[in-house]
Amino acid sequence: MSDKISVMIPEEEIDKRVREMAAQISKEFEGESVHLICILKGSVMFMADLAKRITIPVTMDFMKVSSYGDGTKSSGIVRISKDTDEGLEGKNVIVIEDIIDSGRTLAYLLEVLAQRGPKSLKLCTLLDKPSRRVKEVPVDYTGFVIEDKFVVGYGLDYAQKYRNLPFIGLVEELGE
Ligand code: IMP
Ligand code: MG
Repeated sequence: MSDKISVMIPEEEIDKRVREMAAQISKEFEGESVHLICILKGSVMFMADLAKRITIPVTMDFMKVSSYGDGTKSSGIVRISKDTDEGLEGKNVIVIEDIIDSGRTLAYLLEVLAQRGPKSLKLCTLLDKPSRRVKEVPVDYTGFVIEDKFVVGYGLDYAQKYRNLPFIGLVEELGE
């Protein structure tokens, strides 16, 4: 049996919100450039769409940090398995995250990145589950605040599946 997934945030709504966020970033950093750091793998779709809508110069890098196993529960252990290729000195860094849950991943990551001398350091997340917060994190740009439900799609996975769904979906029922 396959898993049952329902649409929580449709494609059109994501697109509209991503455009708004890109406009806000473009306005705030007018006359400058931004350096986006995509947190792999979940933020790939979000960063690609966001970057296309930003109207000021953009550079990109990728990093892999995880506090999660393959399931739906946080392990509490954070590690960097892929670091950025370039330094952050003097750059307007915006960390692009798919979802902030306990906040453990980002709290750790922001601490590490702040030590690398960026001109500014911001956090941009597509989804936020504030009710689950264990560690405080300053979020600068939020796409959607959602309740404590496990979601998939638009980059987000359940055991590496469903990243390719064009919408944010709710896992209603797990198959065998
Ligand atoms: P945190 O350190 O607990 O904030 O974990 C954030 C990471 O957990 C995200 O980048 C996701 O990879 C994963 N995660 C948290 N909630 C969900 C969810 O509802 N669906 C899929 N992945 C999730
Ligand atoms: Mg994940």
